[in-house]
Amino acid sequence: PFQTKVDSILKLMTLEEKLGQLNLPSSGDITTGASQSSNVAKNIEEGKVGGLFNIKTVAKIREVQQIAMEKSRMKIPLLFGMDVIHGYETTFPIPLGLSATWDMDMIEKTARMAAQEATADGINWTFSPMTDISRDPRWGRVSEGSGEDVYLGSRIAEAMVKGYQGDDLTLNNTMLACVKHFALYGAPDAGRDYNTVDMSKIRMYNEYLGPYKAAVDAGVASVMAAFNEIDGVPATGNKWLLTDLLREDWGFNGFVVTDYTGIEEMMYHGIGDFQEVSARALKAGSDMDMVSEGFLTTLKKSYEEGKVSMADIDTAVGRILTAKYQIGLFDDPYKYCDLDRPAKEIFTPENRAFARKVSSESMVLLKNDNNLLPLKKSGTIALIGPLSNDALNMAGTWSVATKQEKSSPLLEGLKTVAGKNVTILQAKGSNVDYDLDYEKRVTMLGKEIPRDGRTDKQLLDEALAIAKKADVIVAALGETAEMSGESSSVTNLQIPQVQKDLLNALLKTGKPVVLVLFTGRPLAITEEDENVPAILNVWFPGSEAGLAISDVLFGDVNPSGKLTATFPMNVGQVPIFYNHKNTGRPLGNKEGKFEKFKSNYLDVRNEPLYPFGYGLSYTTFAYGNLKLTSNTLNANGTIEASVEVTNSGTYDGKEVVQLYIRDVVGSVTRPVKELKGFQKVLLKKGETKTISFSISEEDLKFYNNSLEFKAEPGTFQVFIGTDSNAELMQEFELK
Ligand code: IFM
Repeated sequence: PFQTKVDSILKLMTLEEKLGQLNLPSSGDITTGASQSSNVAKNIEEGKVGGLFNIKTVAKIREVQQIAMEKSRMKIPLLFGMDVIHGYETTFPIPLGLSATWDMDMIEKTARMAAQEATADGINWTFSPMTDISRDPRWGRVSEGSGEDVYLGSRIAEAMVKGYQGDDLTLNNTMLACVKHFALYGAPDAGRDYNTVDMSKIRMYNEYLGPYKAAVDAGVASVMAAFNEIDGVPATGNKWLLTDLLREDWGFNGFVVTDYTGIEEMMYHGIGDFQEVSARALKAGSDMDMVSEGFLTTLKKSYEEGKVSMADIDTAVGRILTAKYQIGLFDDPYKYCDLDRPAKEIFTPENRAFARKVSSESMVLLKNDNNLLPLKKSGTIALIGPLSNDALNMAGTWSVATKQEKSSPLLEGLKTVAGKNVTILQAKGSNVDYDLDYEKRVTMLGKEIPRDGRTDKQLLDEALAIAKKADVIVAALGETAEMSGESSSVTNLQIPQVQKDLLNALLKTGKPVVLVLFTGRPLAITEEDENVPAILNVWFPGSEAGLAISDVLFGDVNPSGKLTATFPMNVGQVPIFYNHKNTGRPLGNKEGKFEKFKSNYLDVRNEPLYPFGYGLSYTTFAYGNLKLTSNTLNANGTIEASVEVTNSGTYDGKEVVQLYIRDVVGSVTRPVKELKGFQKVLLKKGETKTISFSISEEDLKFYNNSLEFKAEPGTFQVFIGTDSNAELMQEFELK
């Protein structure tokens, strides 16, 4: 709808100004307070900037927009981007935690609230959702995605795009979303960030591309190209990916931005010099260059040498201008710059109350022997661990806008929720092990934080002294925020040894121990599962962490989170995921005992520690009476699958009822089961509900060897249950 307007602007622009629109520098020295005199400001004035990212506060953004509007010749407003990944100042759990809620309305609302807060602060474009499927917890960025499943990941992608963009992008509280990292960034060799990806097309189409496509189908305005290569060509310069698949097959008509220095990095991938890779990126379908300045500095030469055409450049510029029209920036460049909004709309008590609820629903109860949890609101609790009173590590990775020091630490939360009848003693007990984010936190706070000068022995002695006085020990252990996330890959998935030593010493006291596990990835906590009676996985819960964890520990909230990524027994099982193939040599025994010449290991069973979809509650749920309305499904018809779920325990609780389907025989091998539906339902104690799912041919489609998306007639098995080990089963035939 904006093509005529775009064309008329393009006619007025010089080549340099066009290339300027394709340039996305980071805010750089403009954030240091020297707006008018900075290099970035000078470039804006000269028309060399299309947008800026990671600049914060409405006052500063207004000032920068003013430079574009008042000092540049074309007066084209700027886009302001930011990594608004899991909330803005009000911070929700890390995306992996958010996905564990399995609550699409709730997830959509978190994105809506993030957009409300971010736009109140001047930002109009978020680099979210990240929809990279990952089956490899060694990869640190597993924390930023929605886990391992393509179906669930697709539903979450849709919810988030809807939440950010709303129904109307011309409003001042909705923003452009950006699905990333296109594509396959979550599958680097050996889980090492930025490493090579090599994947067959059939796996790509069936198991990895779905969530990106779901975001495109939901109308996402922009796409970020991934750092990795696909079929030997870096995504940033991959025409098959960015044009043939994205635009021609999927019909995407927004703009593509590279990732940070993605163009420059193509030189190190080894596919050309700076001029060549820049031209290649443009011709492949990258429209906006984040940080490299390859478009800005080399495309003129490439144009003069006939390596790119004016039409190539105009197409990319047109897409950026269209996005600016889409959000109404040409009508009002200051529409997100209302100086009164931040105080009224950011980090409000209402938003924080919602974040507390979301956080508590994201937590996954992994173990609870003898109903040790919930804790009683009486007696003495020893809260011990390096994360027991640490506000700065509660929000987790990529929380750019969070005021970390305002986050609720566990000690404070516990005191607030416990009430007057509980005595809470606290000790650090040990260091985390290595503190990757120390420097970053010092910068963020603008002041030195004292390092703990005590020896391991002193820390442990202090902890044991309070443990002895307590009725129960709550051990707050795991990772710090920066131990997962970008460039935080690991080869050891265990809790750092110093914390394991602390935990073992606490267990030796004979007091009951609850492990509150902070993590941005599935960890191999096999020993802890053997020895600790209760384990609550809290991820990084966000700005309301301490309160939300305490709500769950004391039973004010009954945990209902379910894992969206498999927890392995050990790192050697990785990649491990529920929807694997059967192989030609599956095990013949259900117990998982070793069988020679079958597909298994000598030293560990095939099953994970905790499967996909797993999570306990303070109550119990019984499943029965799985029925299908018919044993045949005709093309274009539907059948209903229903199951009775009973809350058979003593607390009201929410359960995520999960439906899996197995395509028994295919023209190509098919997974042992695939998630095809889920419902999160509240059941009062003693209550039974019949939960129904509709199954159509559409749910049975997959990409065959010719990459056609089709269902094949034959037998299908339907499983419904509490996790991916669901055993209740019925069969039907697709005619
Ligand atoms: O959005 C991010 C991306 O996920 C990783 N590289 C930097 C980008 C912008 O901050």
